[in-house]
Amino acid sequence: MYLLFYFLGIFNLLLAFAQQPRLIVEMKTNTSIIRVHQCGSRRDLCLNTRGTNTIQSSINMDEPLRAIHEYSNTMLCSLLWNPEPNNVLVIGLGGGVIPRTFRYYYPKTIIDIVEIDPNIVQIAKEHFLFKIDPLMNLFVNDARLYIRSVINQQLKTYDIIFSDAFTESDEGTPFHLKTVEYLFELKQLLSKQNGILVTYIQKDSSDYYNSRQTYSFVFKYNYAFSGQTCNCVVLVSYDNHLFPILTQTQMINNAIIIQENKQFMFNLTMEALKLENDEHKWSNSGTVLNDRARFVATIVGKNYFSFYSAIANDIKPSGSVY
Ligand SMILES: *[C@@H]1O[C@H](CO)[C@@H](O)[C@H](O)[C@H]1NC(C)=O
Ligand SMILES: *[C@@H]1O[C@H](CO)[C@@H](O)[C@H](O)[C@H]1NC(C)=O
Repeated sequence: MYLLFYFLGIFNLLLAFAQQPRLIVEMKTNTSIIRVHQCGSRRDLCLNTRGTNTIQSSINMDEPLRAIHEYSNTMLCSLLWNPEPNNVLVIGLGGGVIPRTFRYYYPKTIIDIVEIDPNIVQIAKEHFLFKIDPLMNLFVNDARLYIRSVINQQLKTYDIIFSDAFTESDEGTPFHLKTVEYLFELKQLLSKQNGILVTYIQKDSSDYYNSRQTYSFVFKYNYAFSGQTCNCVVLVSYDNHLFPILTQTQMINNAIIIQENKQFMFNLTMEALKLENDEHKWSNSGTVLNDRARFVATIVGKNYFSFYSAIANDIKPSGSVY
């Protein structure tokens, strides 16, 4: 009997040891400190440049298609409007969950990705099963600069844009990827027929209400899907009059058809059920975020800055401008 307890004790000890997060990679460069931790089959990509150990992205190494953070599935609610996109843009690579998952279900869609940090790209490839394929283009650049170059060259438009860029600060999304100028640019990049923007927004960010106000300033329709295990919202935005305004019943009907077609490992209907009518909570309290509020010009260039500020100035905001 004692012996049995003894062995059980050792077993539990070993188990506890195996469950401790282990640091498996640390990459220090002059721009970032990135760490990868593993605990059991779960692997996390953490930013440590400011010492916050913020989790950017996670993967289950045993079942890489089962999302650890629900929002990557929720972001596929954009498919309810646009189930067969020809090309998509992913802003912010992280561990590459969105492009990797999207590629699995959509083998023929062109996926463009813009990521500012080359070290993140290397980590995603080496430790998060992210692979670039012939229908994928990765651009290592600031998202604003990339977007500007596509607009200038009139190269292409996108059927779905996933905006999922993150920093370590408590702001979540970098400020210049939250402003009215950024959203007007993204709008130019959306396909005129069926372009949809989908954005991950942290609800506990200090700019949450301001962000929501900014989106509603630029886009006529904004559907918020609320996370259940995270304090976040996935916002689906467009203002294309050709597009249907979906009721939740229509969303669920679409979800059932798409689910049958794609055999997702998650349940798209459950994601559609996260739709919230929360407009009353923010519509009167947010202010429109604007490049002028911060020195965004140092990132995007002065001429460019004044050009887009002029556009923003031409439009009378419903609320005040930040
Ligand atoms: C890091 O610093 C070195 C030397 O100062 C520089 O040559 C290099 O371009 C820097 N790398 C990045 C990614 O900024
Ligand atoms: C998805 O969830 C809905 C709502 O709970 C349920 O009715 C449906 O059967 C589920 N579909 C699948 C494929 O599991």
